[in-house]
Amino acid sequence: MKRSVKLIAGNWKMNGQADGLAQARRLIEALVSEPTSSRVAVMPPATLVSRLAELASGSVVEVGGQDCRAEAAGAFTGDISAELLAEAGAALVILGHSERRQGHGETDADVSAKVEAALRAGLEPVICIGETLQEREAGRAIEVVRSQISGSLPMSLNGRAFAVAYEPVWAIGTGLTPTLEQIAEVHAAVRAALVEQLGEGGQAPLILYGGSVKPSNAAEILAVEEVGGALVGGASLKADDFLAIIRAA
Ligand code: PGA
Repeated sequence: MKRSVKLIAGNWKMNGQADGLAQARRLIEALVSEPTSSRVAVMPPATLVSRLAELASGSVVEVGGQDCRAEAAGAFTGDISAELLAEAGAALVILGHSERRQGHGETDADVSAKVEAALRAGLEPVICIGETLQEREAGRAIEVVRSQISGSLPMSLNGRAFAVAYEPVWAIGTGLTPTLEQIAEVHAAVRAALVEQLGEGGQAPLILYGGSVKPSNAAEILAVEEVGGALVGGASLKADDFLAIIRAA
């Protein structure tokens, strides 16, 4: 199946104060003068979603959240629902990022419930999976991502817009990346698992690669079979670096 339009998504994590909107403005302006054939998304901290959505309105840049709670509303101090993100102008939401799975004890079942919430609110989930270094060294990378897919992806995703992001935990923020062969191997296994789980519907979703994507390695990673885009952390904070990655797609 040909999936020609890639998705390049920037995950700002807990960054972007003050300078963030200026960088986003630069990104939006550059994409007007030099359009791209890829989809481009920026996931800022929740406090900036509505301001960024306003700034990006009418441009190609889509805005997303970084997490949501499964419930739509209620007494959940400090949390944010998919509905609130959608109302603020988000079109996508990252779910199951390893910094949520590890730092907040999120299980596959938690992620699956959040995916249901995103779909309920009309958000496109970007569901993250990926092995730790210990799991890779034990030869368990494929087994781990297969199990995360079966636990984190509800059947209700069938026919809906969503993406999976393969992010090896040991590659996030470390400057380390898997070899292109390792990326190809896992992406092929992710595709097979998606088709096993969702039938033909598993052919459609993009499979993004994430973990230390930067201007110098983006072109070769994005050219790997079944790499449908990138989820970019650190290098998405500077408009020029993020633009260089978008142009490499
Ligand atoms: P990184 O983060 O690009 O800074 O490695 C990627 C991610 O966590 O999504």
